[in-house]
Amino acid sequence: MGKRVLLFPLPFQGHINPMLEVAALLHSRGFSITIFHTSYNSIDSTKYPLYRFILVEDGGISGRFRSVVGDAMQRITAWNNNCEQLFYDCLTSVLSEKNEEPIACLIRDTHWYNLQYLANKLGVPTLVLRTGSTATLNWYMTFPQLIQKGFIPVQESQLNMPIIELAPLRMRDLPCLPDCSHEVLRDLFTHAIDAIRASSGVIVNTFDAIDSTEVENFQKEIPIPVFCIGPLHKFTPPARSSLLDPDRSCLDWLDMQSAGSVLYVSFGSLACMNFEELIETAWGLANSDQPFIWVVRPGSVLGKDKVDLPDGFIEATSGRGKIVSWAPQQEVLAHAAIGAFWTHNGWNSTIEAICEGVPMICRPQFADQMGNARYVMHAWKVGIELEGKLERGNIEMAIKRLMREDEGAEIRQRMRAMKHEASLSIKSDGSSSINIDKLISFISSFKIL
Ligand code: UDX
Repeated sequence: MGKRVLLFPLPFQGHINPMLEVAALLHSRGFSITIFHTSYNSIDSTKYPLYRFILVEDGGISGRFRSVVGDAMQRITAWNNNCEQLFYDCLTSVLSEKNEEPIACLIRDTHWYNLQYLANKLGVPTLVLRTGSTATLNWYMTFPQLIQKGFIPVQESQLNMPIIELAPLRMRDLPCLPDCSHEVLRDLFTHAIDAIRASSGVIVNTFDAIDSTEVENFQKEIPIPVFCIGPLHKFTPPARSSLLDPDRSCLDWLDMQSAGSVLYVSFGSLACMNFEELIETAWGLANSDQPFIWVVRPGSVLGKDKVDLPDGFIEATSGRGKIVSWAPQQEVLAHAAIGAFWTHNGWNSTIEAICEGVPMICRPQFADQMGNARYVMHAWKVGIELEGKLERGNIEMAIKRLMREDEGAEIRQRMRAMKHEASLSIKSDGSSSINIDKLISFISSFKIL
């Protein structure tokens, strides 16, 4: 009889994708997979006939895929509180099943912090999946100390001050969320870190060449195993976990474009803009004269399910612009016609771009995005910043800088080297492949339940 791994992703797109990639990886190594999910952004189980799905009713919070930035924190706190008893009941019931394969461990998202203590109470070994970089965990640990020292809330005059213990971050790059106080963030980070201390180890969607120093720093504080096994999507078949249907016609459209000519524009699953910024973005793209794919998802504009593009824009960009409401992003980035990626620097988008060697125009908005962008622009130097107010002139200039000027050529060269590093990590003797083997041995060493 084989062993079973239980997994519980946080129900946001950027957290569901990597967790399902971990599931696919473990399944390919002989583990049976049971996935807990909530009715909010529930996963379409019909796409995964080989896995078992268990719905943890999330205490009345339901719905699907919106721009939830403002209330993301409240949601995470509410889910942790509301799901406690429900998850405890689910876990107890799964543990008592006599005819199913024995359980090796639980893998939970970093932000399902309360579940750690329930799993510990029931004696279930638990690993944490960090869907962001390892660096984010160090930011979480240092955040409360920066508050204590009086650096947060950040003063206007200190925005560019370097944070020595978190180099290359400056104060302006620290995680923040609109409509969310630093005290609320501190509590969230403290809960996340305390629960990690109580876990058996951490899995991160990254690879040693870009994150090993951060791992060392993390382990000085919390000496538990860390498994850098990314880029996860390179070890698994293309994700089927999109919460919106990807418009695959953009791949045919890309086939007709010349190599390296197309700008891919997408801001992930949660970030949004106001209507004025949408108009500026549209005309910036139009005026750049560069072919582009632009993901305008429902909810891309604050408070609007249906997004109206400005009059005349479609005509002005006819033949060189492709608008989709959701793209098969990993395949788009891997297409030879893609030359650059204008991104919000969510971690998944960032690592997906690195894997394909696509340089970035960085326009971070919230959470870990500013810090990720800082690494892209300053530590790795594989992207440029789109600074200041979002205006058509700045947009046009950034696109030209990256896609047509000498500066862009140098950035592309560095990006090719980074892509090479990523490709080495997934070879059979590469760091991530070795770390996957270590993870499998680690999971196999747990006493089964
Ligand atoms: C957010 C944060 O910004 C991220 O850093 C954090 O770790 C998780 O929450 P999100 O805004 O969704 O995530 O961005 P990102 O992390 O980039 O994930 C988006 C995912 O959706 C990527 O895997 C991307 O490939 C996919 N995607 C996006 C598509 O498949 N199609 C699209 O059109 C857009």
